[in-house]
Amino acid sequence: MNNAVDDVVIVGGGLAGTLTALELSRRCAEASITVLTASSLDVCASMMAQGGMAVPRVDRADDAEVHVADTIAAGNGHCDVDVVRSIIGDAPRLVHVLETGGVRFDRDVHGAPSYACEGGHQCARVLRASDATGAHVMQTLHAELRRQRNVRIREHCRCMSVRVRPNHVLLSCMNVHDGDHIMLTARSVVLAMGGSGQLYAHTSNPPTAMGDALRIAEELGLPLRDLEWMQFHPTAFATSTCSGTAPLITEAIRGAGAWLRNTAGERFMPRYDARAELATRDVVVAAMREEMEREATDRVWLDCRHLDRQHLVAHFPTFIENCRALGLDPTVDLIPVRPVAHYQCGGIAASIDGSTSLARISAIGECARTGMHGSNRLASNSLLEAGVMAMRCAERLAADIAHPTMIA
Ligand code: SIN
Repeated sequence: MNNAVDDVVIVGGGLAGTLTALELSRRCAEASITVLTASSLDVCASMMAQGGMAVPRVDRADDAEVHVADTIAAGNGHCDVDVVRSIIGDAPRLVHVLETGGVRFDRDVHGAPSYACEGGHQCARVLRASDATGAHVMQTLHAELRRQRNVRIREHCRCMSVRVRPNHVLLSCMNVHDGDHIMLTARSVVLAMGGSGQLYAHTSNPPTAMGDALRIAEELGLPLRDLEWMQFHPTAFATSTCSGTAPLITEAIRGAGAWLRNTAGERFMPRYDARAELATRDVVVAAMREEMEREATDRVWLDCRHLDRQHLVAHFPTFIENCRALGLDPTVDLIPVRPVAHYQCGGIAASIDGSTSLARISAIGECARTGMHGSNRLASNSLLEAGVMAMRCAERLAADIAHPTMIA
């Protein structure tokens, strides 16, 4: 492998970056690929995804169109319909690629996919691996990534700036342990750097989600779009110890029947929306904010006391464990929750295959803006978008490597 000039440097080791590296490696065994991560490989938002990946149900022929309709409704009419249709249309291929790579989504006793329900979905269509879907997917893919002979993984190496030269790209990076400057050169760079939740007081995002991709893109002159649409997730733990990155409580718990109560004890969501706790996130968060403002408090309460303990233990072990760590028992106690900055719907203007207005720079996953999410992402559509973008980006980069004149 040529260490001097990589064919591709991928900045970010979440689902988007990792799957691009794997798919590119599979297609071009001779390509030299570097994956850079600002922390260790396992520190990424994908790893923390609890709920899962929304896909059209295999047992309902019309579900792809219903999934498209739900996505557009959640995005409040600001989605790009062709993009939504194209990404959802590629969901079966993504599931196949992930399962071929060793990912095991939950199945029911008959061996059929077991789907969870989340806000804004007209039916249960979220594939999951218990309530630690991201951890399972990423641990599986990262193990595979570490086996690739043509992929070099550089952890704790934060990309500070990117400059495009006529025939290559320069990446100026910092070793986060000792501050040493590291210069990398690549024929092509993929920005897969996640979001910017750490710019907010409370977030579900990992410490690396500082908006670096936006700064780098701005310096490169890449257009940024829809940055005002930061999505807040309704339910993160709201104890005094949960500042910075707060543990999330998956929306699938509300899908399983949990309610939200104000401090007076009222189940308030039915007053705001007929879908109650399963309204889209923007609606639930707006209702929570109104209740918190009226009661002059910074939290509302998640009520799971009426849910079956066995079901909770079997399907939400991460939630139970996080409750236990805070001295709470969800079958007895109300759980304090508040909204946290969760997902950057806008970002670097990019096509589904990650191409941007600069031939040698791609942007994929949360740092990119394709038009899939509009002003409010439908629950569990992020792993879907990241995975489909990764597959298509890898296909395009493989074609570029096979025909180098295509990117002059
Ligand atoms: C969740 O499990 O509620 C988070 C999934 C998502 O961000 O869509």
